Amino acid sequence: MPPQMKPGTTMMRNALKKYLVSDSKPPVIRLSEQQNLTSRFQNRRQLSTSSRGTSVFSLKKEGKYGFTKLDDYEVVKSIGIGPLLNAAAIGKGAYGEVVEAVHKRSGDAVALKIYAKSRMADKTRKANLLREVRNLEAINHPNVVKLYDCIDDVSKNVVMVMEFVRGVSLKRYASARRLSEKEVAHLFRQIVSAVAYCHSKGVAHRDLKLENVLVTGNGTVKIIDLGFSIWTQRGQKVKILCGTPAYMAPEIIKRYEYDPQLADIWAAGVVLYYLLSGTFPFKGGSPEEIGKSIAESKLAELDSNKVSSGAAELVRAMLTADPSHRFTAFAALQHPFLSGGKS
Ligand SMILES: Nc1ncnc2c1ncn2[C@@H]1O[C@H](COP(=O)(O)OP(=O)(O)O)[C@@H](O)[C@H]1O
Ligand SMILES: [Mg+2]
Repeated sequence: MPPQMKPGTTMMRNALKKYLVSDSKPPVIRLSEQQNLTSRFQNRRQLSTSSRGTSVFSLKKEGKYGFTKLDDYEVVKSIGIGPLLNAAAIGKGAYGEVVEAVHKRSGDAVALKIYAKSRMADKTRKANLLREVRNLEAINHPNVVKLYDCIDDVSKNVVMVMEFVRGVSLKRYASARRLSEKEVAHLFRQIVSAVAYCHSKGVAHRDLKLENVLVTGNGTVKIIDLGFSIWTQRGQKVKILCGTPAYMAPEIIKRYEYDPQLADIWAAGVVLYYLLSGTFPFKGGSPEEIGKSIAESKLAELDSNKVSSGAAELVRAMLTADPSHRFTAFAALQHPFLSGGKS
């Protein structure tokens, strides 16, 4: 490694930026998305003076702790491994792993999401990582995990340094016991408020699900995992099939071009349904069967003895098959179930 290429230096950051950007136009990305990516880089100057006031992809900007390197953090323990992992690959992960660590100088707990470069040969993965870093950096909301820094350790990994969320996934939280509607409203309001904020910045999450929402001990929600997120112009449609089957909107299943923000609303509707009932709205023994049930709009009715009419109404507004009639995040926030009766 040349001496000037020490991790954490500006030069290193530029190298990381180059590494991420070098082939950010994988063949599977549709033209509309490609143009989007390209124009965002071309328009960086313009974007950097946009309303958010910071550069969209500003690895040259110092993170919360300045320019850091991996040595500045001490690993505590592993907390998650990439989703494609099979038992034989333990420790290597699909892309790497997430660990709890401590920023030595401040003593702060952080989460490190480690992407092994050896697993990033696939250009789609690299493009996704680029989006994940860039989109998360543009987000500053109390209910979305914060990105503090992004480190390239040259030979092996790209590491996202994030706020550590001490809590459990919403899946675990909501499966442990039946939640009262008051509690559901409290949790879900935070989710929708984060989603509305992201959408206002042009960012759609595209993998909203119970596992990607963490709940802390005091009931604060933090959305994580912007690995599938995408930035679009308002109303712009995309066609890439992504997400998790049980949460996919019908227009995605049917392979139509879709507005990723409205697909987020559908996924959030699935989350709300689960919080209210402990079950998923569309049934099936396999992803294919679930997909069929979604495509045919076979929504399992909520039990009116257990779920209030207001909550059920919000679910239906979010799980409306026709995206042009579906609620937006802003409309959902105004709904009496979330606004506490003030609509
Ligand atoms: N900032 C964080 N704080 C605490 N735990 C986290 C954090 N980020 C991720 N995790 C844990 O690691 C798991 C995997 O992270 P995630 O970003 O969802 O990656 P992926 O789903 O792509 O593997 C999460 O489900 C969560 O349990
Ligand atoms: Mg995840």
